[in-house]
Amino acid sequence: MTGALPARRLFIKTYGCQMNVYDSERMADVLRPLGYGLADGPEDADLVVLNTCHIREKAAEKVYSELGRLKALREARLEQGLPRSTIVVAGCVAQAEGEEIMRRQPAVDMVVGPQAYHQLPELIARAGRQLGERVAAEFEPNAKFDALPKTREATGPTAFLTIQEGCDKFCTFCVVPYTRGAEWSRPAEAVLAEARALAERGVREVTLLGQNVNAYAGEGVGGEPWSLARLAFALAEIPGLDRIRYTTSHPNDFSEDLIAAHRDLPQLMPYLHLPVQSGSDKILRAMNRKHGSAAYIALIERLREARPDLALSGDFIVGFPGETDRDFEATMELVRRVNYASAFSFLYSARPGTPAAAMPGQVEQGVAEERLQALQALLRDQQQAFGEIQVGKTLPVLFEKPGRRPGQGVGRSPYLQSVFAEDADRLMGQIVEVRIDAATPNALSGTVVDARALCPA
Ligand code: SAH
Ligand code: SF4
Ligand code: F3S
Repeated sequence: MTGALPARRLFIKTYGCQMNVYDSERMADVLRPLGYGLADGPEDADLVVLNTCHIREKAAEKVYSELGRLKALREARLEQGLPRSTIVVAGCVAQAEGEEIMRRQPAVDMVVGPQAYHQLPELIARAGRQLGERVAAEFEPNAKFDALPKTREATGPTAFLTIQEGCDKFCTFCVVPYTRGAEWSRPAEAVLAEARALAERGVREVTLLGQNVNAYAGEGVGGEPWSLARLAFALAEIPGLDRIRYTTSHPNDFSEDLIAAHRDLPQLMPYLHLPVQSGSDKILRAMNRKHGSAAYIALIERLREARPDLALSGDFIVGFPGETDRDFEATMELVRRVNYASAFSFLYSARPGTPAAAMPGQVEQGVAEERLQALQALLRDQQQAFGEIQVGKTLPVLFEKPGRRPGQGVGRSPYLQSVFAEDADRLMGQIVEVRIDAATPNALSGTVVDARALCPA
Protein backbone atom coordinates (compact mmCIF):
# COMPACT_ATOMS: atom_id res chain seq x y z
CA MET A 1 0.00 0.00 0.00
CA THR A 2 2.30 2.76 1.23
CA GLY A 3 5.60 2.17 -0.50
CA ALA A 4 7.67 4.05 2.10
CA LEU A 5 6.80 1.61 4.86
CA PRO A 6 9.26 -1.16 5.69
CA ALA A 7 8.42 -4.45 4.06
CA ARG A 8 7.49 -6.05 7.37
CA ARG A 9 6.63 -4.60 10.70
CA LEU A 10 7.64 -5.64 14.17
CA PHE A 11 6.23 -4.72 17.56
CA ILE A 12 8.03 -5.73 20.75
CA LYS A 13 6.41 -5.27 24.14
CA THR A 14 8.86 -5.43 27.02
CA TYR A 15 8.16 -6.40 30.61
CA GLY A 16 10.55 -6.76 33.56
CA CYS A 17 14.07 -5.52 34.10
CA GLN A 18 16.60 -3.55 32.04
CA MET A 19 18.12 -6.79 30.79
CA ASN A 20 14.88 -7.38 28.95
CA VAL A 21 15.02 -3.83 27.55
CA TYR A 22 18.48 -4.61 26.19
CA ASP A 23 17.31 -7.96 24.80
CA SER A 24 14.34 -6.31 23.06
CA GLU A 25 16.69 -3.85 21.33
CA ARG A 26 18.89 -6.73 20.25
CA MET A 27 15.90 -8.70 18.93
CA ALA A 28 15.05 -5.69 16.76
CA ASP A 29 18.72 -5.67 15.59
CA VAL A 30 18.52 -9.38 14.71
CA LEU A 31 15.31 -8.92 12.75
CA ARG A 32 16.24 -5.71 10.91
CA PRO A 33 18.22 -7.50 8.16
CA LEU A 34 15.06 -9.50 7.42
CA GLY A 35 13.30 -6.27 6.54
CA TYR A 36 11.50 -5.72 9.82
CA GLY A 37 10.95 -2.10 10.79
CA LEU A 38 9.25 -1.03 13.99
CA ALA A 39 5.46 -0.72 14.07
CA ASP A 40 3.67 1.83 16.26
CA GLY A 41 1.46 -0.76 17.90
CA PRO A 42 0.57 -4.46 17.79
CA GLU A 43 -2.37 -3.76 15.46
CA ASP A 44 0.04 -2.66 12.69
CA ALA A 45 2.56 -5.47 13.20
CA ASP A 46 3.21 -8.60 11.17
CA LEU A 47 5.33 -9.92 14.01
CA VAL A 48 4.58 -9.30 17.69
CA VAL A 49 7.07 -10.28 20.37
CA LEU A 50 6.19 -10.24 24.05
CA ASN A 51 9.45 -10.08 26.00
CA THR A 52 8.24 -11.36 29.33
CA CYS A 53 9.15 -11.34 33.03
CA HIS A 54 8.60 -14.17 35.50
CA ILE A 55 9.76 -12.48 38.68
CA ARG A 56 6.36 -12.07 40.36
CA GLU A 57 3.06 -13.79 39.69
CA LYS A 58 1.39 -10.61 38.46
CA ALA A 59 4.09 -9.99 35.87
CA ALA A 60 3.85 -13.55 34.57
CA GLU A 61 0.04 -13.58 34.43
CA LYS A 62 -0.07 -10.30 32.49
CA VAL A 63 1.39 -12.20 29.54
CA TYR A 64 -1.69 -14.37 29.21
CA SER A 65 -4.14 -11.48 29.19
CA GLU A 66 -1.98 -9.71 26.60
CA LEU A 67 -1.90 -12.87 24.49
CA GLY A 68 -5.71 -12.96 24.53
CA ARG A 69 -5.73 -9.41 23.15
CA LEU A 70 -3.17 -10.26 20.47
CA LYS A 71 -5.23 -13.23 19.34
CA ALA A 72 -8.27 -10.94 18.89
CA LEU A 73 -6.13 -8.42 16.99
CA ARG A 74 -4.88 -11.12 14.67
CA GLU A 75 -8.44 -12.18 13.90
CA ALA A 76 -9.44 -8.56 13.23
CA ARG A 77 -6.47 -8.20 10.85
CA LEU A 78 -7.41 -11.36 8.98
CA GLU A 79 -10.96 -10.06 8.57
CA GLN A 80 -9.53 -6.91 7.00
CA GLY A 81 -7.58 -9.05 4.56
CA LEU A 82 -4.21 -8.30 6.20
CA PRO A 83 -1.57 -11.04 6.46
CA ARG A 84 -1.68 -13.38 9.45
CA SER A 85 0.51 -11.95 12.23
CA THR A 86 3.08 -14.08 14.01
CA ILE A 87 3.02 -14.10 17.83
CA VAL A 88 6.24 -14.83 19.72
CA VAL A 89 6.70 -15.16 23.47
CA ALA A 90 10.28 -14.40 24.51
CA GLY A 91 11.99 -13.70 27.83
CA CYS A 92 11.81 -15.28 31.25
CA VAL A 93 8.24 -16.65 31.10
CA ALA A 94 9.22 -18.33 27.84
CA GLN A 95 12.16 -19.95 29.61
CA ALA A 96 10.22 -20.94 32.72
CA GLU A 97 6.98 -22.15 31.19
CA GLY A 98 8.08 -23.28 27.72
CA GLU A 99 5.48 -25.18 25.77
CA GLU A 100 2.97 -24.77 28.58
CA ILE A 101 2.43 -21.31 27.08
CA MET A 102 1.35 -22.77 23.75
CA ARG A 103 -1.00 -25.15 25.54
CA ARG A 104 -2.61 -22.29 27.46
CA GLN A 105 -2.77 -20.03 24.41
CA PRO A 106 -2.66 -21.92 21.11
CA ALA A 107 -2.46 -18.64 19.16
CA VAL A 108 1.24 -18.44 20.12
CA ASP A 109 3.51 -19.42 17.23
CA MET A 110 6.86 -19.49 18.98
CA VAL A 111 8.43 -19.54 22.40
CA VAL A 112 12.03 -18.31 22.63
CA GLY A 113 14.05 -18.17 25.87
CA PRO A 114 16.44 -15.33 26.75
CA GLN A 115 19.48 -17.28 25.57
CA ALA A 116 18.01 -18.25 22.20
CA TYR A 117 16.60 -15.11 20.63
CA HIS A 118 19.49 -14.82 18.18
CA GLN A 119 17.80 -17.78 16.46
CA LEU A 120 14.65 -15.79 15.74
CA PRO A 121 15.33 -15.31 12.00
CA GLU A 122 15.74 -19.05 11.52
CA LEU A 123 12.68 -19.84 13.64
CA ILE A 124 10.56 -17.32 11.78
CA ALA A 125 11.68 -18.67 8.41
CA ARG A 126 10.67 -22.17 9.52
CA ALA A 127 7.32 -21.01 10.86
CA GLY A 128 6.68 -19.12 7.62
CA ARG A 129 6.98 -22.25 5.50
CA GLN A 130 4.29 -23.99 7.46
CA LEU A 131 1.72 -21.61 8.82
CA GLY A 132 1.32 -21.92 12.55
CA GLU A 133 4.23 -24.32 13.05
CA ARG A 134 5.41 -24.07 16.62
CA VAL A 135 9.04 -24.11 17.54
CA ALA A 136 10.17 -23.96 21.11
CA ALA A 137 13.80 -22.99 21.52
CA GLU A 138 15.73 -24.79 24.21
CA PHE A 139 18.01 -23.11 26.72
CA GLU A 140 21.26 -22.31 24.96
CA PRO A 141 24.66 -21.29 26.31
CA ASN A 142 25.71 -17.74 25.64
CA ALA A 143 26.78 -18.33 22.07
CA LYS A 144 24.03 -15.79 21.58
CA PHE A 145 26.27 -12.77 21.87
CA ASP A 146 28.59 -14.03 19.15
CA ALA A 147 25.63 -14.46 16.82
CA LEU A 148 24.16 -11.00 17.40
CA PRO A 149 24.85 -8.28 14.82
CA LYS A 150 27.85 -6.15 15.75
CA THR A 151 25.99 -2.96 14.90
CA ARG A 152 23.35 -1.49 17.13
CA GLU A 153 20.86 1.27 16.57
CA ALA A 154 21.66 4.02 19.04
CA THR A 155 18.42 5.75 19.89
CA GLY A 156 19.77 8.54 22.07
CA PRO A 157 22.73 9.57 24.23
CA THR A 158 22.27 6.74 26.76
CA ALA A 159 22.37 2.99 26.23
CA PHE A 160 22.18 -0.28 28.11
CA LEU A 161 24.95 -2.80 27.59
CA THR A 162 24.64 -6.33 28.95
CA ILE A 163 28.00 -7.60 30.23
CA GLN A 164 26.95 -10.42 32.52
CA GLU A 165 24.04 -12.81 32.64
CA GLY A 166 22.63 -15.34 35.02
CA CYS A 167 22.82 -15.88 38.72
CA ASP A 168 24.32 -18.51 41.02
CA LYS A 169 22.99 -16.99 44.23
CA PHE A 170 19.71 -18.87 44.54
CA CYS A 171 17.91 -16.52 46.89
CA THR A 172 15.03 -18.70 48.07
CA PHE A 173 12.31 -16.43 46.64
CA CYS A 174 13.79 -15.86 43.20
CA VAL A 175 13.26 -17.44 39.76
CA VAL A 176 16.18 -15.73 38.00
CA PRO A 177 18.72 -18.57 38.46
CA TYR A 178 16.19 -20.83 36.72
CA THR A 179 15.16 -18.43 33.95
CA ARG A 180 18.57 -16.98 33.13
CA GLY A 181 20.88 -19.83 34.05
CA ALA A 182 24.34 -19.77 35.62
CA GLU A 183 26.55 -16.67 35.95
CA TRP A 184 28.44 -15.88 32.77
CA SER A 185 30.45 -12.82 31.73
CA ARG A 186 31.09 -11.49 28.24
CA PRO A 187 34.73 -11.08 27.24
CA ALA A 188 36.02 -7.54 27.88
CA GLU A 189 36.96 -7.01 24.24
CA ALA A 190 33.39 -7.70 23.09
CA VAL A 191 32.05 -5.24 25.66
CA LEU A 192 34.61 -2.59 24.67
CA ALA A 193 33.83 -3.03 20.97
CA GLU A 194 30.12 -2.62 21.58
CA ALA A 195 30.74 0.44 23.76
CA ARG A 196 33.05 2.01 21.14
CA ALA A 197 30.40 1.53 18.48
CA LEU A 198 27.81 3.12 20.74
CA ALA A 199 30.07 6.08 21.51
CA GLU A 200 30.64 6.60 17.79
CA ARG A 201 26.89 6.88 17.39
CA GLY A 202 26.69 9.61 20.02
CA VAL A 203 26.13 7.62 23.18
CA ARG A 204 27.56 9.49 26.17
CA GLU A 205 26.41 7.22 28.98
CA VAL A 206 26.33 3.43 29.24
CA THR A 207 24.64 1.40 31.91
CA LEU A 208 26.37 -1.96 32.24
CA LEU A 209 23.83 -4.66 32.95
CA GLY A 210 23.88 -8.01 34.67
CA GLN A 211 21.73 -9.93 37.13
CA ASN A 212 24.85 -9.79 39.30
CA VAL A 213 26.85 -7.24 37.43
CA ASN A 214 29.55 -6.82 40.07
CA ALA A 215 30.30 -10.55 39.85
CA TYR A 216 31.63 -9.71 36.36
CA ALA A 217 34.73 -11.79 35.59
CA GLY A 218 35.00 -11.73 31.82
CA GLU A 219 38.10 -12.68 29.88
CA GLY A 220 40.34 -9.62 29.84
CA VAL A 221 42.09 -8.15 26.84
CA GLY A 222 45.32 -9.95 27.81
CA GLY A 223 43.54 -13.24 28.55
CA GLU A 224 43.35 -13.00 32.35
CA PRO A 225 39.92 -12.31 33.87
CA TRP A 226 38.92 -8.70 34.45
CA SER A 227 36.86 -7.38 37.31
CA LEU A 228 34.03 -4.90 36.82
CA ALA A 229 36.32 -2.13 38.10
CA ARG A 230 38.99 -2.99 35.54
CA LEU A 231 36.39 -3.00 32.80
CA ALA A 232 35.01 0.36 33.95
CA PHE A 233 38.50 1.93 33.78
CA ALA A 234 38.95 0.62 30.24
CA LEU A 235 35.52 1.89 29.18
CA ALA A 236 36.34 5.31 30.60
CA GLU A 237 39.14 5.60 28.02
CA ILE A 238 36.68 5.54 25.14
CA PRO A 239 36.39 9.07 23.70
CA GLY A 240 32.91 10.53 24.22
CA LEU A 241 31.87 8.01 26.86
CA ASP A 242 31.55 10.32 29.84
CA ARG A 243 29.27 8.42 32.15
CA ILE A 244 29.30 4.83 33.33
CA ARG A 245 26.69 3.15 35.48
CA TYR A 246 26.09 -0.48 36.38
CA THR A 247 23.21 -2.49 37.75
CA THR A 248 22.29 -4.74 39.61
CA SER A 249 24.91 -5.41 42.24
CA HIS A 250 24.93 -7.98 45.01
CA PRO A 251 26.45 -6.90 48.35
CA ASN A 252 28.59 -10.06 48.53
CA ASP A 253 30.31 -9.38 45.21
CA PHE A 254 31.63 -5.92 46.11
CA SER A 255 35.39 -6.05 45.71
CA GLU A 256 37.93 -3.56 47.03
CA ASP A 257 38.83 -2.38 43.55
CA LEU A 258 35.22 -1.52 42.77
CA ILE A 259 34.90 0.52 45.95
CA ALA A 260 38.14 2.28 45.02
CA ALA A 261 36.83 2.94 41.50
CA HIS A 262 34.02 4.98 43.03
CA ARG A 263 36.72 7.18 44.51
CA ASP A 264 39.13 7.29 41.56
CA LEU A 265 37.05 7.10 38.40
CA PRO A 266 35.10 10.30 37.74
CA GLN A 267 33.16 8.67 34.89
CA LEU A 268 31.59 6.24 37.38
CA MET A 269 28.36 7.93 38.39
CA PRO A 270 27.70 8.39 42.12
CA TYR A 271 24.52 6.33 42.15
CA LEU A 272 24.28 2.70 43.12
CA HIS A 273 21.41 0.23 43.09
CA LEU A 274 22.25 -2.21 45.87
CA PRO A 275 19.30 -4.42 46.87
CA VAL A 276 19.16 -5.80 50.40
CA GLN A 277 15.56 -7.16 50.45
CA SER A 278 15.14 -7.06 54.24
CA GLY A 279 16.69 -5.57 57.36
CA SER A 280 16.07 -8.65 59.50
CA ASP A 281 18.95 -11.10 59.83
CA LYS A 282 16.51 -13.95 60.41
CA ILE A 283 14.71 -13.18 57.16
CA LEU A 284 17.97 -12.59 55.28
CA ARG A 285 19.07 -16.07 56.37
CA ALA A 286 15.78 -17.60 55.25
CA MET A 287 16.22 -15.78 51.93
CA ASN A 288 19.70 -17.32 51.55
CA ARG A 289 21.17 -13.85 51.01
CA LYS A 290 24.40 -14.93 52.74
CA HIS A 291 24.88 -11.52 54.38
CA GLY A 292 23.37 -9.81 57.40
CA SER A 293 22.13 -6.26 57.77
CA ALA A 294 25.30 -5.13 59.58
CA ALA A 295 27.52 -6.25 56.70
CA TYR A 296 25.29 -4.38 54.25
CA ILE A 297 25.46 -1.19 56.29
CA ALA A 298 29.22 -1.53 56.76
CA LEU A 299 29.62 -1.88 52.99
CA ILE A 300 27.59 1.26 52.39
CA GLU A 301 29.70 3.15 54.89
CA ARG A 302 32.85 2.14 53.02
CA LEU A 303 31.34 3.13 49.71
CA ARG A 304 30.31 6.50 51.13
CA GLU A 305 33.80 7.02 52.48
CA ALA A 306 35.12 6.46 48.95
CA ARG A 307 32.47 8.66 47.36
CA PRO A 308 30.72 10.89 49.92
CA ASP A 309 27.93 12.00 47.58
CA LEU A 310 27.02 8.42 46.59
CA ALA A 311 23.24 8.07 46.26
CA LEU A 312 21.73 4.70 47.01
CA SER A 313 18.83 2.75 45.72
CA GLY A 314 17.56 -0.64 46.83
CA ASP A 315 14.99 -3.39 46.45
CA PHE A 316 12.83 -4.67 49.30
CA ILE A 317 10.51 -7.62 49.68
CA VAL A 318 7.77 -7.31 52.27
CA GLY A 319 5.85 -10.29 53.66
CA PHE A 320 8.47 -12.98 53.10
CA PRO A 321 7.41 -16.22 54.89
CA GLY A 322 8.01 -15.95 58.63
CA GLU A 323 8.27 -12.13 58.63
CA THR A 324 6.96 -10.79 61.96
CA ASP A 325 6.25 -7.20 62.95
CA ARG A 326 9.69 -7.17 64.54
CA ASP A 327 11.37 -8.34 61.37
CA PHE A 328 9.54 -5.68 59.43
CA GLU A 329 10.58 -3.03 61.95
CA ALA A 330 14.21 -4.11 61.33
CA THR A 331 13.67 -3.34 57.63
CA MET A 332 12.27 0.10 58.49
CA GLU A 333 15.26 0.70 60.77
CA LEU A 334 17.73 -0.26 58.04
CA VAL A 335 16.00 2.10 55.61
CA ARG A 336 16.23 4.94 58.15
CA ARG A 337 19.94 4.27 58.61
CA VAL A 338 20.84 4.02 54.94
CA ASN A 339 18.63 6.88 53.73
CA TYR A 340 17.86 5.94 50.12
CA ALA A 341 17.64 8.30 47.17
CA SER A 342 15.12 5.95 45.57
CA ALA A 343 14.01 2.36 46.01
CA PHE A 344 11.71 -0.38 44.80
CA SER A 345 9.59 -2.41 47.18
CA PHE A 346 7.44 -5.42 46.44
CA LEU A 347 4.96 -7.72 48.13
CA TYR A 348 6.47 -11.16 48.36
CA SER A 349 5.13 -13.36 45.57
CA ALA A 350 5.44 -17.14 45.95
CA ARG A 351 6.99 -18.49 42.75
CA PRO A 352 6.55 -22.09 41.63
CA GLY A 353 9.62 -24.24 42.21
CA THR A 354 11.40 -21.83 44.57
CA PRO A 355 12.22 -23.01 48.12
CA ALA A 356 10.42 -20.08 49.79
CA ALA A 357 7.11 -21.05 48.19
CA ALA A 358 7.07 -24.15 50.40
CA MET A 359 8.16 -22.40 53.61
CA PRO A 360 5.83 -22.24 56.60
CA GLY A 361 4.58 -18.90 57.93
CA GLN A 362 3.25 -17.37 54.71
CA VAL A 363 2.21 -13.84 55.72
CA GLU A 364 -1.43 -12.82 55.49
CA GLN A 365 -2.05 -10.55 52.49
CA GLY A 366 -3.62 -7.71 54.50
CA VAL A 367 -0.71 -7.59 56.94
CA ALA A 368 1.84 -7.61 54.14
CA GLU A 369 0.00 -4.83 52.32
CA GLU A 370 -0.05 -2.64 55.41
CA ARG A 371 3.68 -3.13 55.85
CA LEU A 372 4.31 -2.32 52.21
CA GLN A 373 2.41 0.94 52.53
CA ALA A 374 4.40 1.96 55.59
CA LEU A 375 7.69 1.13 53.87
CA GLN A 376 6.72 2.94 50.68
CA ALA A 377 5.69 6.05 52.63
CA LEU A 378 9.11 6.12 54.31
CA LEU A 379 10.94 5.56 51.01
CA ARG A 380 8.87 8.27 49.33
CA ASP A 381 9.80 10.75 52.04
CA GLN A 382 13.47 9.89 51.64
CA GLN A 383 13.29 10.30 47.87
CA GLN A 384 11.55 13.66 48.23
CA ALA A 385 14.15 14.81 50.77
CA PHE A 386 16.95 13.69 48.46
CA GLY A 387 15.43 15.79 45.69
CA GLU A 388 15.07 18.80 47.94
CA ILE A 389 18.71 18.82 49.00
CA GLN A 390 19.63 19.35 45.34
CA VAL A 391 17.70 22.63 45.18
CA GLY A 392 20.14 25.54 44.84
CA LYS A 393 22.97 23.24 43.67
CA THR A 394 24.33 23.17 40.15
CA LEU A 395 24.46 19.68 38.65
CA PRO A 396 25.82 18.35 35.36
CA VAL A 397 22.82 17.09 33.40
CA LEU A 398 22.96 14.84 30.34
CA PHE A 399 20.03 15.92 28.16
CA GLU A 400 18.26 12.96 26.60
CA LYS A 401 14.98 14.02 25.07
CA PRO A 402 12.66 16.96 24.49
CA GLY A 403 10.08 17.63 27.19
CA ARG A 404 6.35 18.12 26.71
CA ARG A 405 6.52 21.92 26.59
CA PRO A 406 8.08 23.62 23.55
CA GLY A 407 11.77 24.22 24.11
CA GLN A 408 11.88 22.05 27.21
CA GLY A 409 14.55 19.38 27.60
CA VAL A 410 14.74 16.39 29.94
CA GLY A 411 17.96 14.91 31.19
CA ARG A 412 19.51 13.01 34.07
CA SER A 413 21.50 14.20 37.03
CA PRO A 414 24.52 12.14 38.13
CA TYR A 415 22.15 10.60 40.71
CA LEU A 416 19.77 9.42 37.97
CA GLN A 417 17.09 11.98 38.78
CA SER A 418 15.08 13.33 35.84
CA VAL A 419 15.81 17.02 35.35
CA PHE A 420 13.55 19.34 33.35
CA ALA A 421 14.85 22.63 31.95
CA GLU A 422 13.46 25.27 29.59
CA ASP A 423 15.44 26.38 26.50
CA ALA A 424 17.17 23.04 26.49
CA ASP A 425 15.84 21.44 23.32
CA ARG A 426 19.11 22.27 21.54
CA LEU A 427 21.15 20.47 24.16
CA MET A 428 20.32 16.84 23.41
CA GLY A 429 23.31 14.60 23.95
CA GLN A 430 25.20 17.29 25.84
CA ILE A 431 26.22 17.36 29.48
CA VAL A 432 25.37 20.81 30.74
CA GLU A 433 25.45 22.58 34.11
CA VAL A 434 21.94 23.15 35.43
CA ARG A 435 20.99 25.08 38.55
CA ILE A 436 18.26 23.15 40.35
CA ASP A 437 15.29 25.35 41.21
CA ALA A 438 12.69 22.92 42.48
CA ALA A 439 12.07 19.29 43.40
CA THR A 440 8.88 17.30 42.93
CA PRO A 441 8.59 13.71 44.23
CA ASN A 442 9.84 12.22 40.96
CA ALA A 443 11.86 14.92 39.23
CA LEU A 444 13.89 18.12 39.47
CA SER A 445 13.53 21.29 37.46
CA GLY A 446 16.24 23.82 36.83
CA THR A 447 17.84 26.49 34.69
CA VAL A 448 20.70 25.93 32.28
CA VAL A 449 23.69 27.95 33.47
CA ASP A 450 26.32 26.71 31.06
CA ALA A 451 26.37 29.55 28.53
CA ARG A 452 28.95 27.83 26.30
CA ALA A 453 26.53 25.05 25.61
CA LEU A 454 23.83 27.53 24.63
CA CYS A 455 25.98 29.31 22.05
CA PRO A 456 28.35 26.70 20.66
CA ALA A 457 31.36 28.27 18.92
N1 SAH B 1 19.70 -9.63 40.80
C1 SAH B 1 19.08 -8.62 41.47
C2 SAH B 1 17.59 -8.43 41.24
C3 SAH B 1 16.76 -9.51 40.69
S1 SAH B 1 15.05 -9.35 40.62
C4 SAH B 1 19.36 -8.78 42.95
O1 SAH B 1 19.92 -9.72 43.39
O2 SAH B 1 19.00 -7.91 43.68
C5 SAH B 1 14.63 -7.73 41.08
C6 SAH B 1 13.95 -7.64 42.39
O3 SAH B 1 12.69 -8.28 42.37
C7 SAH B 1 14.67 -8.28 43.55
O4 SAH B 1 15.70 -7.49 44.05
C8 SAH B 1 13.57 -8.49 44.55
O5 SAH B 1 13.41 -7.37 45.38
C9 SAH B 1 12.34 -8.62 43.68
N2 SAH B 1 11.85 -10.02 43.68
C10 SAH B 1 12.48 -11.11 43.23
N3 SAH B 1 11.73 -12.22 43.44
C11 SAH B 1 10.61 -11.80 44.07
C12 SAH B 1 9.47 -12.47 44.60
N4 SAH B 1 9.35 -13.80 44.52
N5 SAH B 1 8.50 -11.72 45.18
C13 SAH B 1 8.63 -10.38 45.27
N6 SAH B 1 9.69 -9.70 44.81
C14 SAH B 1 10.68 -10.40 44.22
FE1 SF4 C 1 17.52 -13.43 42.32
FE2 SF4 C 1 19.08 -13.39 44.45
FE3 SF4 C 1 20.12 -13.88 42.06
FE4 SF4 C 1 19.25 -11.46 42.63
S1 SF4 C 1 20.95 -12.52 43.64
S2 SF4 C 1 18.86 -12.59 40.77
S3 SF4 C 1 17.50 -11.86 43.93
S4 SF4 C 1 18.69 -15.19 43.16
FE1 F3S D 1 12.04 -10.50 35.10
FE2 F3S D 1 13.70 -12.10 33.90
FE3 F3S D 1 14.42 -9.64 34.47
S1 F3S D 1 12.31 -12.67 35.48
S2 F3S D 1 13.29 -9.21 36.32
S3 F3S D 1 12.85 -10.21 33.09
S4 F3S D 1 15.71 -11.44 34.53
